[in-house]
Amino acid sequence: MTKSDKDKTYVWHPFDVIDLTENVCIKKGTGIYLHTQDGRKIMDAISSWWVNIHGHRNPHITKAVSKQLRYLEHVIFAGFTHEPAIKLAENLIKILPGNMSKVFFSDDGSTSTEVALKMAIQYWHNQKKTKNKIIAIEGAYHGDTFGAMSVGARGGFNQPFEPFLFDVEFIDFPNSENLECIHKFEKLCLSGVLAAFIYEPLVQGSAGMRMYTPEVLDKLLQIAKSNDVICIADEVMTGFGRTGKNFASSYCHSQPDIICLSKGLTGGYLPLGATVANQKIVDAFQSKDIHKIFLHGHSYTANPLACAAANESIRLLLSAECQNNILRINTHFSLLASQLNSHSKLQNVRSLGCVLAMDIKNEGDNSYFNPMRDSIYHSFLQKNILLRPLGNTLYILPPYIITEKQINQIYKAILDVLEEI
Ligand SMILES: Cc1ncc(COP(=O)(O)O)c(C=O)c1O
Repeated sequence: MTKSDKDKTYVWHPFDVIDLTENVCIKKGTGIYLHTQDGRKIMDAISSWWVNIHGHRNPHITKAVSKQLRYLEHVIFAGFTHEPAIKLAENLIKILPGNMSKVFFSDDGSTSTEVALKMAIQYWHNQKKTKNKIIAIEGAYHGDTFGAMSVGARGGFNQPFEPFLFDVEFIDFPNSENLECIHKFEKLCLSGVLAAFIYEPLVQGSAGMRMYTPEVLDKLLQIAKSNDVICIADEVMTGFGRTGKNFASSYCHSQPDIICLSKGLTGGYLPLGATVANQKIVDAFQSKDIHKIFLHGHSYTANPLACAAANESIRLLLSAECQNNILRINTHFSLLASQLNSHSKLQNVRSLGCVLAMDIKNEGDNSYFNPMRDSIYHSFLQKNILLRPLGNTLYILPPYIITEKQINQIYKAILDVLEEI
């Protein structure tokens, strides 16, 4: 059996059409390239599902993980601690906006939001206050576990599970055409039953890289805060430089009470989630009563190898070289957005920081399930570029080491693929 046959026989991949999906076998990664088993070199223009911010096999992160391997691979994180986790928590508190106090580690983006929701719900429970509704934004994606699915868009991905999801209030996506949703938001906040507001700051990733302004988000945050609604920023995709600032929340004046992190946290090396809370949240759990403490923990919580990778990734992120790269990509993407805006086959071309997105005009809906996704994906793969459209939304979300020349190569490939449609 070939590797591909064995893969089809034994492995169940995410989003697999079982027995039909041809998964590309990768042998090695170097910088922004993925090298296939059969000798192809594919440009990873989506940072391997938005995680790989410094490129593949970055020598500094590789060294940091190798060094950590000589000391400790893993240890239970209840009753025990270790230096990489302590250093990472301190690093995060120092660079996050708002006055964050404590870091709670978990495994990935979904668990980071799951933890945030549980913290917010228990915050009110510990104070014997009945606030039992969460509010979220229509189209949201916060992960694939049950709590995360409940606060995410209904239909599509979650249809079979809908009867099992808890009730959530949703407001329309707050773009310039929908600003009346702010009134609905205010009305719901005034009802006094909202425990928390969870949102992807400025960019809804999975919904199709939909963007909204810091002014609107600030307005929502001010209303939520003045009505005692806990604000949870899901920075799983937007964190670590993706939107041009280290965190998208920094574009706003009002800051969340809880921030969820993952993806770029370890530079794409190892799975790790972090839920960071401010003192207001922490205070509600400060008790010797076992029923008031946070009874939640994962086996691999704060894995030392993942923490070592994260510490090095953050050091690289804060370096002048990486910050200049982010600025350079930001400027280049704005320029390309203005050039692509007049393309007859495109609409709603937009960019923010290191995200460039555009919708391809077509007969169908603007939705993940638009079948254009498959043909466009394969057209780019044939050109040795990994772009994974969200339906008819095409986007570039590259590692920050991408050069001007490589961005221009993607730009040219986009023009060629549009020509072929
Ligand atoms: C905003 C946001 N939150 C949460 C998640 C879930 O992260 P994970 O896939 O690591 O569970 C994602 C994943 O795309 C995301 O974009």
